[in-house]
Amino acid sequence: MSFIPVNEPDLSGNEQRYVGEAVASGWISTGSFVQEFERAFAAFCGTRHAVTTTSGTAALQLAVASLGLGEGDEVLVPSLTIVATVFAVRYARATPVLIDSDPVTGNLDPSLIERRITRKTRAILPVHLYGHPADMDPIRELARRYRLADIEDAAEAHGAEYHGRRAGSLGDVNCFSFYANKIITTGEGGMVTTDDDVLAQRVRRLKDLCHTPERRFVHDDIGYTLRMTNLQAAVGVAQLERVEQFLAHKRWMAETYGRHLAGIGGLVLPQEQPWARSVYWMYTVRVTPEFGCGRDELMRRLRAKEVDSRSFFIPMHRQPVFLREGLFADEHYPVADELSDTGLYIPSGLTLTEAQIVRVAEAIRACQSEARA
Ligand SMILES: Cc1ncc(COP(=O)(O)O)c(C=O)c1O
Repeated sequence: MSFIPVNEPDLSGNEQRYVGEAVASGWISTGSFVQEFERAFAAFCGTRHAVTTTSGTAALQLAVASLGLGEGDEVLVPSLTIVATVFAVRYARATPVLIDSDPVTGNLDPSLIERRITRKTRAILPVHLYGHPADMDPIRELARRYRLADIEDAAEAHGAEYHGRRAGSLGDVNCFSFYANKIITTGEGGMVTTDDDVLAQRVRRLKDLCHTPERRFVHDDIGYTLRMTNLQAAVGVAQLERVEQFLAHKRWMAETYGRHLAGIGGLVLPQEQPWARSVYWMYTVRVTPEFGCGRDELMRRLRAKEVDSRSFFIPMHRQPVFLREGLFADEHYPVADELSDTGLYIPSGLTLTEAQIVRVAEAIRACQSEARA
């Protein structure tokens, strides 16, 4: 019985060939693959611009910086997310203000946003968790009404759609990750997408030491070196050639898990919203008391059966780093807590077969029987 990991990338296309071409050309830092990847990714998202970065975290950092956010500014973020989302706000010394989750999608609940808006609020940063788009219309309407910038964290949602528009094309400035577990990967890497010419230009300058356009080696602002290499972009171009196939695989996986996991008492399956086309970056389930054991025990039992899984993120209001800073003290986000304590994701890699999905489903049923015995 072989181990089934939560994720495996599919690098069986032109990845090796393009990396070889980049090496042979000698262009390993900047180069034509970077330009090609940016052009093709902008077309994929339907945006005017796409700017490569070293990671999704860097993309978020640059997005926040490009908006000029700083000390005293408040940015609305979901409590249930990866810490990178909130670190990006803190890098700029701005203040993250948390929003609780929608119980079904786990994304920030739009009905809770308005009460958190103050005179200092400058931006809202929704995250499309696990490949399910956040409900963007009410978010964008509030952003418009209160003149807030809107930054999408689409790190986990390549190709997801909201009312037919791709994730990463809905905010003023939007961010992706290409870490090895993402739908397309460059090993490490990220992208900022936007329709705004000025923001795109700022991100380009910020990621490259803020050389002034008029004169190289003259700098009128503090910049960073957060540039993706041509080697990484070569992998990205090859991955993007097959992205539709990857997205189809994720949706097939969700449909197949849905059939094989149906009817397991106490196991809550993910739901696609009517306005969304989810990409099921990871196939998530939740465990209720009816299941027979808690989430952590299920994960331990699955591991003993050679089936890998991961728990949901731990919400930001429970992170020692922020509590130590005096942030979020005595704040309560019960839905984020509930999801974080009961949610997990199961094997969802791009090479997952139906036989493996059947084995995962049987393992979950067996765990339940053991726990209930
Ligand atoms: C929602 C979300 N935002 C941001 C990131 C950060 O991306 P990276 O790991 O490429 O820095 C991740 C990824 O891991 C993520 O899942």
